[in-house]
Amino acid sequence: MLEGKNVNLRVMEKEDLPLYAKWINNPELLGEYISPGQTSTTEIEKRRENNPFEFKTFIIEKKDGNKIGWVAHFYVLHPMGKLLEIGYVLVPDERGKGYCTEAVMIMVDYLFLTKEMLCIQAITDTRNIASQKVLEKAGFTKEGTIRKRFFSRGEWRDGYLYSILRKQWKEPKILTKE
Ligand SMILES: CC(C)(COP(=O)(O)OP(=O)(O)OC[C@H]1O[C@@H](n2cnc3c(N)ncnc32)[C@H](O)[C@@H]1OP(=O)(O)O)[C@@H](O)C(=O)NCCC(=O)NCCS
Repeated sequence: MLEGKNVNLRVMEKEDLPLYAKWINNPELLGEYISPGQTSTTEIEKRRENNPFEFKTFIIEKKDGNKIGWVAHFYVLHPMGKLLEIGYVLVPDERGKGYCTEAVMIMVDYLFLTKEMLCIQAITDTRNIASQKVLEKAGFTKEGTIRKRFFSRGEWRDGYLYSILRKQWKEPKILTKE
């Protein structure tokens, strides 16, 4: 368990899969910038077994144990070396309270403390202001526009690439080294 002030991150377990499947199949919850899938719990289980991108999902929990979303990390494969990327979603009722920013900051601490990577990246739709605010508040820098990167809801969309370098992060903001 990764403990923050208002939220904790807990590695997703098998018993979370029905809720997670409900979430990732729900267009309202994913918002207008992420394409919903139609994914069964069996498919999610299979993906967890055969996982070339080392996709790992953490459930975001409030201190009372309420599950309010998820944050995930995964690798983008590139011949020059692996790139480490994160993604996140929060249930609508809990948005705008700073929980996602805290979850991303915990994840950044965790990744820089446990993986020998120089950089963590994230990509948002250029219209997704809430997500851009989360990344900027968590210390990420906008690198630039990546044109026509996502196919979502019947159209190709532009994204912003954000990143945080280890030297920018400097030290843990929420977790400790112990
Ligand atoms: C993106 C998302 C995770 C942000 O979660 P959150 O809990 O609202 O994030 P926070 O409260 O930590 O910060 C959000 C900031 O964006 C602001 N914001 C939210 N919606 C906004 C909008 N439409 N326009 C401008 N600002 C907006 C909030 O006011 C807040 O800023 P503030 O702290 O300066 O007041 C959430 O909106 C979500 O789950 N969206 C759908 C899925 C998604 O888009 N995921 C990201 C994919 S890259």
